[in-house]
Amino acid sequence: MSNATLASITDLVRETATTDNAEVLQWVTEVAELTQPDSILWCDGSQDEWNRITSEMVEAGSLIPLDKNLRPGSFLARSHPADVARVEDRTFICSEDEADAGPTNNWVAPAAMRAELMPLFEGSMRGRTMYVVPFSMGPVGGAITQLGIEITDSPYAVLNMRIMTRMGQQALDGITPGSEWVRTVHSVGAPLVDGAEDSAWPCNDTKYITHFPDTLEVWSYGSGYGGNALLSKKCFALRIASVMGKNEGWLAEHMLLLKLTNTETGKDYHLSAAFPSACGKTNLAMLQPTIPGWKVETIGDDIAWLRPGKDGRLYAINPEAGFFGVAPGTGESTNPVAMETLWGNTIFTNVALTDTGDVWWEGMTDTVPEHLIDWQGNDWTPESGRPAAHPNSRFTVPIQQTPSLARDWYEQDGVPLDAILFGGRRATNVPLVAQSRSWNHGVFVGATISSEKTAAQEGTVGELRRDPFAMLPFCGYNMADYWGHWLEMGEQLGENAPKMFQVNWFRKDEDGKFMWPGFGDNSRVIDWVIRRVEGEHTGVETAVGTIPAPGELNLTGIEEVEKDLDKIFAIDPASWLAEADLTEEYFAQFGDRLPQALTAELDALRERLGK
Ligand code: GDP
Ligand code: PGA
Ligand code: MN
Repeated sequence: MSNATLASITDLVRETATTDNAEVLQWVTEVAELTQPDSILWCDGSQDEWNRITSEMVEAGSLIPLDKNLRPGSFLARSHPADVARVEDRTFICSEDEADAGPTNNWVAPAAMRAELMPLFEGSMRGRTMYVVPFSMGPVGGAITQLGIEITDSPYAVLNMRIMTRMGQQALDGITPGSEWVRTVHSVGAPLVDGAEDSAWPCNDTKYITHFPDTLEVWSYGSGYGGNALLSKKCFALRIASVMGKNEGWLAEHMLLLKLTNTETGKDYHLSAAFPSACGKTNLAMLQPTIPGWKVETIGDDIAWLRPGKDGRLYAINPEAGFFGVAPGTGESTNPVAMETLWGNTIFTNVALTDTGDVWWEGMTDTVPEHLIDWQGNDWTPESGRPAAHPNSRFTVPIQQTPSLARDWYEQDGVPLDAILFGGRRATNVPLVAQSRSWNHGVFVGATISSEKTAAQEGTVGELRRDPFAMLPFCGYNMADYWGHWLEMGEQLGENAPKMFQVNWFRKDEDGKFMWPGFGDNSRVIDWVIRRVEGEHTGVETAVGTIPAPGELNLTGIEEVEKDLDKIFAIDPASWLAEADLTEEYFAQFGDRLPQALTAELDALRERLGK
């Protein structure tokens, strides 16, 4: 680029900037010089700005406005058919030392990755607007809160970021000289040269989702989709934040966050749960109890940051401000709270469009519409023989629209945790609920979780894979060190540590039918969990933990489940011993980084199973 052009880019940054923080200005200038956008917009997060960007996108054909009476303020976006989910094989942790990324992450040395990326980013925003998106993860000024900026050339990403984070001027003003903040850069990798026409969903066949934990940076290229493009979410709030947490004594987790109130005693409890993607976090976060005695309120559905408080207990916040939820399977009968939340102001991605200008997806209603436009824009009827909505289609909606939102979501310093659940999607072996014997046993259970793959990941749906703490794709450092960090956290918390449980809503019978009704009826499991925390239930000890004693699990109203209860809780020593062998193999890849305590737990499990 000529010096004249470089000078004009520097001018462009200075003229448009809404901060005088020199560090921010310098970084934005560097990225602009590299990517060469036509214009720059510093996002203030206002409604005006939202209106302007949505209008431009509608005009350009990349957003479809939904009927104002049926779904006010809402839009449908259709992605490129090959850009529909996170791309884990294109996701890299670029720590200085390969061993710090560990065997479960793709690793490239930072300098080598920069050398690979810079030619791609060079001129990648030509013909486009570069948006500077400042955001706060957590309430601005909170004890657990962190700030960041995403630079992106995707207006779709900007709109989603405005829903998913506290985005705008207040966050930018919070980034003071010398303070810690995370730098993230995103380009769809589709420059518009020589007046080339834009497509409705620009992206590139080449994709890179790269993380530089040593310098708190994310560089994402080639994809416009969810976790690849909304860099506050998986990239920052999990991968980068997990490293920050390791260094600073806190935890960044793939967990939902719930508040429970016992309506008889008035006592409050808080619970978090780690389930892999598309394994029920959003649904549990919006739980509507089917048994009396409990009020359930939502705090978060995907990410929780955990930090010991002054009183020695473990406190948690939801750093996000919206839901990026899986649409299919969300319906009036399964998740009425989500359906109510989606009344308006929602961006839908890859769902179907109805003839009346509303949205539809599999499982939204019991009756299937006779005609739809499917997620790829084609005519669709029930006879078409293909899903109308993509299985990983999503809604993005402000959390404040949730009728069950807890006041605690606004709490600056978070809520104290009473219980932590670990779960996955397991057709066999894993009982409905089992309490871990100790913190270390709980860490072992979390570390050994396996789950059947879902549409949220590329790959074969249904295939079993290890997903420790539901963090396999999201841990920004060596997984063995991560387990070590959890073990240390337990030592620090001591008697104040939350109790740990393993759950599985997905066990099937011989005919492949779910044996546990799930959804609202999961309140029965939560009821047992809290009564265990309170020491009201004795439970029964098994080799894998404490399960409900006969009569302890409240089945009033679903007595038909009684006949399957033995199968729902069956623990088969032979299959568990076989899994223990697989765990040993799995652990082996971590070599001497594997904490001794986990080997000890594996030995103890085998002992209890009668080996
Ligand atoms: P998340 O991605 O972890 O937040 O998962 P969601 O809550 O969006 O759920 C993913 C899928 O699992 C949806 O199709 C839900 O309908 C389904 N699901 C959620 N909870 C349950 C449950 O308790 N039982 C069964 N059988 N399915 C569930
Ligand atoms: P999820 O996250 O798959 O955990 O729901 C969304 C995404 O990263 O695309
Ligand atoms: Mn979810």
